[in-house]
This record gives sequence, structure tokens and C-alpha cells, in this order.
Amino acid sequence: MRLSDRLALSVLYALKPETAHHAALYALEHHLVASRDEPDDPVLRTSVWGLNFPNPVGLAAGFDKDARVSGAMLSLGFGFVEAGTVTPRPQAGNPRPRLFRLDEDHAVINRLGFNSGGVDAFAQRLVARRGKPGSKGIVGANVGKNRDTVDAADDYVGGIGKVAAIADYLVVNISSPNTPGLRDLQARAALDDLLRRSIAARNRAGGGGRKPPLLAKVGPDLTPAQMNAIAEVALATGVDGLIVGNTTVARPPELRGRDRAEAGGLSGAPLFKPSTECLAEIYRLTKGRIPLIGCGGIADGATAYAKVRAGASLVQLYSALVFHGPGLVRRIKQELTQLLRRDGWNSVAEAVGCDCREPVSRF
Ligand SMILES: Cc1cc2nc3c(=O)[nH]c(=O)nc-3n(C[C@H](O)[C@H](O)[C@H](O)COP(=O)(O)O)c2cc1C
Repeated sequence: MRLSDRLALSVLYALKPETAHHAALYALEHHLVASRDEPDDPVLRTSVWGLNFPNPVGLAAGFDKDARVSGAMLSLGFGFVEAGTVTPRPQAGNPRPRLFRLDEDHAVINRLGFNSGGVDAFAQRLVARRGKPGSKGIVGANVGKNRDTVDAADDYVGGIGKVAAIADYLVVNISSPNTPGLRDLQARAALDDLLRRSIAARNRAGGGGRKPPLLAKVGPDLTPAQMNAIAEVALATGVDGLIVGNTTVARPPELRGRDRAEAGGLSGAPLFKPSTECLAEIYRLTKGRIPLIGCGGIADGATAYAKVRAGASLVQLYSALVFHGPGLVRRIKQELTQLLRRDGWNSVAEAVGCDCREPVSRF
């Protein structure tokens, strides 16, 4: 880690977690963080949904909820950035404190509850970024619902309508544990209805025949029956991809951090194993026919590679940035490159799902 990164991290650690997050956003927005924009090794290049990713390592939703720093995060070396979750109308989210760092566990608990500046301001920022000379990179938009909305699908449809023409991909987030009832949208009938309406909204709103891929983000706390239903609905509706997944409401007994009993979603290192198992199962159930984004506990090249081997065409991370700083992205890419080359893969796409493939009979 660079000395400047180490200094910045120790300053941020002295602040309350949410204040530290705002300080990091300020530094990024005001170009106070050094860019690590450099060409990626060709083995990392990958094409999914017709989009060309310079590398498969993305920023997960929640860091840049209001689309303020997508360009700055891309320049840290991310292959893509997901802005959001954004709600149709602005809302404050849950009362503070609502964000906790579990240092001993390299984990985070959050119950932010979709604090959002609303989709209109979000969309304006995406448009402004696109209009800037030299702006490049893949930016997705993750949409959610306002806490007090009764017909959830209305909010997703409204959000998609506002961002479909300006985002590179769309995500319906149905797995945050901090909005009451949200995760019920993962049940078979509700999911089928939501995805069909969301896809129709995307098709209407894309503009100029443009149809950005539409993904659903699911949680890691699914029963086998729920996973089965999600896989079947995904295949039947033609949704373009799944993100597996969100934070967990489980509290593994080995957690040591003082705030481990706080309510909310747990992310970071303890999420790696359960979320990777869930990813592998969904890859198996969808027979590798739908691109998956693996997310949960990625902190180095080995954990990113394990997600790829379990079925992820792309990966995302958030919590590890809190503990390792912005230089982490570059390190993960270097380590992932070495691991892919060590195992003889010519491209990351070749390795996708290799741990889950049925052994092929030679006879
Ligand atoms: C503080 C915080 C806020 C988050 N907010 C969102 C969000 O708004 N939308 C969403 O889809 N996921 C959100 N997430 C979940 C992350 O996108 C990711 O799925 C999860 O943290 C697992 O990845 P990680 O272990 O690398 O952090 C949030 C996570 C954290 C830590």
C-alpha cells in the first residue's frame, strides 16, 4: 500500500464510518485521489451482453448511491461501476448510526435503508458525465423502491424509465435487507411479475432501439427452493443477468467485532463463502445460460478468481475497499492475471464456471 493511501486510511478510520464515507466521496469528487488508470492485461478483457469490459472487476452498488463519483471510481482501475441504489423520490433512509465497521472481521454492517437523492438528480449526473469530453467506461444503474411505496413494481418501472437511455446496464435490487418487504420480491410469482414489467419498461424506454441489459440482484440468504424458483423465473423471463449477491442477515458465530449484533446487512470477508456457494448453485441451476456477477467478500485475486471459477462472468466488491484502500483494485487485477495465466487460461471468459462443469466423458 502506498504511504499516501495508508495515511488517508488512518485518517478515515479515526472518523465515524458514515462520516468517513462522505469524506472519501468528497476526495473522489474533488480529484484528490490519484488515478490508477492504466491499460489492463489482455487476459482480463471480456465481453458480456455486447459490452466490452477492460477487466472483470467492478464496484458494487451502495458506494456511489447518487452517481457522484462513477468517473473517479473508474479511474481507480475498476472495469465497471454500478451507481445506486437510487429510489424514485429522494428519501433520508434510516436514523443514524446505521453503518458499522467490524475491523477484526474485515466486515461491515449497514442498515442505511436506501438513502437516496432520488432518480431525477441521479439521471442528470449520468447525463452530465456522458457529455464530458473523454468520458468512457461502463456505468450501470441500480434501482430500488421508496420505503412507503405499496406497489413495488411501479417504483422499479418508474426508475427504469428514467435511466434506461443513459445507463450501460440496469439492475433491479430486490435483496437489500433494510427495506421492509423488499426481499419478498424474490419469491416466484412476485419476481416473475416484477421482471416482466421491468423488461417491458426497459424495452419502452431504451430509446433509439437501445436495450441496456437488465439484471436482478439477489441475496445470499436463499433456501434451495428459492434459488430454484429464481433460476426458473430468470430463464423464463429472459432477464439478462443476475448479481449474486447482496449483504446477508446471517451472523456467523466467529464474528468478533464489537458491533456484530447490530441489525442490518453484513458484508466483507465473512460473506465470501456463503455468497460463493450461492453463486455456484445458481450457475448450476441456470446451466451457465445467464451471465452472473459474483459479489460478496472479494478482497484479493484469489477470492475474485474463486468467484469466476464458481460461475461469475464479472465480479464486484465494496467492503474490502474500506480496509485496503484504493490501491486494492490494481492488486486484485495483477493477482487475477497471474492466477489465470498459471492455470493456462487465455481469457477470463474461459475460466467462468470451470469448478461447476460436469466432468466430460472421454469415451
Ligand atoms: C455500506 C453499504 C451500502 C450498500 N448499499 C447497497 C445498495 O444501495 N444497493 C445494493 O444493491 N447493494 C448495496 N450494498 C451491497 C453491496 O453492493 C454488495 O452486494 C455487498 O456489500 C457484498 O459485497 P462486499 O462483501 O464486497 O462488500 C451495500 C453494501 C454496503 C457495505
